[in-house]
Amino acid sequence: MKFVRFIMKNAAMASVPKHIEHFSKFSPSPLSMKQFLDFGSINACEKTSFVFLRQELPVRLSNIMKEINLLPDKLLTTQPVKMVQSWYIQSLIEILEFLDKNPDDYKVLGEFVDALVTIRNRHNDVVPTMAQGIIEYKETFPHDAVTNQNIQYFLDRFYMSRISIRMLINQHTLIFDGSANPVHPNTIGSIDPLCQVGDVVQDAFHSAKMLCDQYYLCSPDLILQEMSNKKNLPISIVYVPSHLYHMLFELFKNAMRATIETHENSNNLPPIQVMVSLGGEDMSIKVSDKGGGVPFRRIENLFSYMYSTAPAPQMGEHTRPPLAGFGYGLPISRLYAKYFQGDLQLYSMEGHGTDAVIYLKALSTDSIERLPVYNKTALKNYKVSQEADDWCIPSKEPLDLSNYKVAK
Ligand SMILES: Nc1ncnc2c1ncn2[C@@H]1O[C@H](COP(=O)(O)OP(=O)(O)OP(=O)(O)O)[C@@H](O)[C@H]1O
Ligand SMILES: [Mg+2]
Repeated sequence: MKFVRFIMKNAAMASVPKHIEHFSKFSPSPLSMKQFLDFGSINACEKTSFVFLRQELPVRLSNIMKEINLLPDKLLTTQPVKMVQSWYIQSLIEILEFLDKNPDDYKVLGEFVDALVTIRNRHNDVVPTMAQGIIEYKETFPHDAVTNQNIQYFLDRFYMSRISIRMLINQHTLIFDGSANPVHPNTIGSIDPLCQVGDVVQDAFHSAKMLCDQYYLCSPDLILQEMSNKKNLPISIVYVPSHLYHMLFELFKNAMRATIETHENSNNLPPIQVMVSLGGEDMSIKVSDKGGGVPFRRIENLFSYMYSTAPAPQMGEHTRPPLAGFGYGLPISRLYAKYFQGDLQLYSMEGHGTDAVIYLKALSTDSIERLPVYNKTALKNYKVSQEADDWCIPSKEPLDLSNYKVAK
């Protein structure tokens, strides 16, 4: 029996490249917030969701697996990246097993939910593991400028793909595991059709405050203001509260750290101000701190996966969550914002403070998944070679004009 299982496992492994080739030829199908809600409405059909996911998950996995294969060997061969790659292969194999199963069989549907839960758990640590791979690579090849660019491009797409795959898995498992959500009975999977933005701001602020108090023994206060033309009604949108919470928590941790580190010797810390504003197209949230700001030249770097001013955290089971870690707070938060067609931008004034603005779509009809697709354009981005800059690089040395003779 063991031997048969071994043969079957090897056969499944051997056919993986063929399946990746096949499924990566399809483009992922972005879902709108409305489609997500329909999958979870009263007449939600588990069978439809199953049939959709057993095709769509392999498509999304294969599209991004093609891009993993384009990473430079120096990175691909690090132990952590090899591990991440093996998780993707294993998960793809497990979903493919459902391709020839009968959607009308309740047992199959139940097994599918279990398989999705296993897959989700397997991929829990993808971000820190990948980060570890990048750190190892960065230590060995610190000046690899071309690859830095490629890694930024790849990780933005890789993590966006991961966010989207987890969203699909969460929706299916939450909606069809047979139990209602006792804490939030109105949510549809992980979506809240009436997500009150102010409440999420308060929640995220309090979590960041607790962490900050533990770390620095003090923390700034919050001033929250809402602007909407619907007077007296709290601002709400159709959104995934956990995504919004993630972004705000990251922005608050950064704002608190900056505020405390620039006001170390003062008795009262300037508060963090938050403005929530709802318009016809955008729902925007501005988080303003007086934490001394960042030089304009560095703003772009803050969204880089290869850059953080905080020392890299040690990986380990019992370490508490740091206030500043891998330097992934901003880039990943921006991905969450972009996932449903929003954005996250920083406006800073060095010497004063920083405004971080989250832009989300006010209308659920505009909230449609933004997904990477593997195609020729993507391929080109991995082949960018380093060419000479077409702008002059200013010299740091003062110009010695005596060397310049005036031509007669
Ligand atoms: N509001 C801010 N004021 C000043 N500097 C900031 C602010 N927000 C971010 N930064 C700078 O940007 C860097 C990157 O921020 P980011 O949140 O991405 O990573 P991090 O805070 O270093 O680590 P973590 O992954 O834990 O968030 C920070 O290290 C900090 O130097
Ligand atoms: Mg941070």
